[in-house]
Amino acid sequence: MPSGPDHIAEGKAALDGSKALHVAIIMDGNGRWAKARHQIRTFGHKAGVDALKKTITAAGDLGVTHMTVFAFSTENWRRPAAEVSDLMGLLKAFIRSDLDRLAREGVCVRIIGQRDGLPADILSCIHDAHERTRHNSRFFLQVALNYGAQADIVEGAKAFARRVQSGEARIDDLTPDAFGGFLSTHGLPTLDLVIRTSGEHRLSNFLLWEAAYAEFVFQDILWPDYDGAALKAALDEFYRRERRFGAVEAGHVPA
Ligand code: FPP
Repeated sequence: MPSGPDHIAEGKAALDGSKALHVAIIMDGNGRWAKARHQIRTFGHKAGVDALKKTITAAGDLGVTHMTVFAFSTENWRRPAAEVSDLMGLLKAFIRSDLDRLAREGVCVRIIGQRDGLPADILSCIHDAHERTRHNSRFFLQVALNYGAQADIVEGAKAFARRVQSGEARIDDLTPDAFGGFLSTHGLPTLDLVIRTSGEHRLSNFLLWEAAYAEFVFQDILWPDYDGAALKAALDEFYRRERRFGAVEAGHVPA
C-alpha cells in the first residue's frame, strides 16, 4: 500500500464521490503584499494565514469538498532562515489554535510532504492533526508542507519498485490509476481546479501528476487579500470552462 498517511480513506467512504470538488491553491503574493505596506515578509505570511482561514470557511459553503494548499515547498528552504522559522511557527500556531475548531466542524486534515528536515514540534503537530481529525468527512483540507511533486513521484516509483522486488506486484500491474495510489495524495478525488494568486502563471512543482486534467485559474489578487468572493470568482470561471478530458464535445458526430 502507499507509503503516506492513509487516514483519508476512512472518511472518504462517507462522501458521495460524484459530488466531490477538489480545488488546489498556490497561495502566492504574501511578500509583495507586505512590501507594499513597508513591512517584513512575515507580516504578509501572517495575513496569509487569515486569508486561508476565510477561504476554508467559504470553500465549504461554495461546494468545494476537498482543498489542497501549498504552504511550504521543498525549495522554500532557500529563503532566509528567519522567514523559514516564521513560516514553521505560523503553521504550528495554525494547527494549535485552529485544530479544535476544524475537528468540531468535521474537517479532515492531512499534511503531505517530506518529513525529513521538519522540526520535531512540527512533526508532533502533524501527528495531532491527523489523529484528531481522521474520522471527519465533511471537508478535506490537505496541506502540502515541505512538498515537491517530482520528489513525491520519485518516492511513489520507489515504493512500487519495492513491491515488485518483494514479489507483491508485477511490473504490468502498474497503470496510471494504480500509480496514483503510491503518491502522498492518494485517496483524494481527481483534482478539478488549480488556482494561483498574485498574477504568476507557474505550477512550481505542485501536484504535477494530479493536475493532469485540472483547469487552471490565475488571479491577480495577492494571497493575503483572498477571501470567499475571490474563490467564488475562480469557481465561476471554472464552471464556464468546458471539460472534455481529451474527448470531443457532447453531441459531436464523428465525420
Ligand atoms: C508565497 O508568497 C507564499 C508562501 C511561500 C507561503 C504560504 C503560506 C501561508 C499562506 C501561511 C502559512 C500556511 C499555513 C497552512 C498556516 P511569497 O512569500 O512567495 O510572496 P511573494 O511572491 O510576493 O514574495
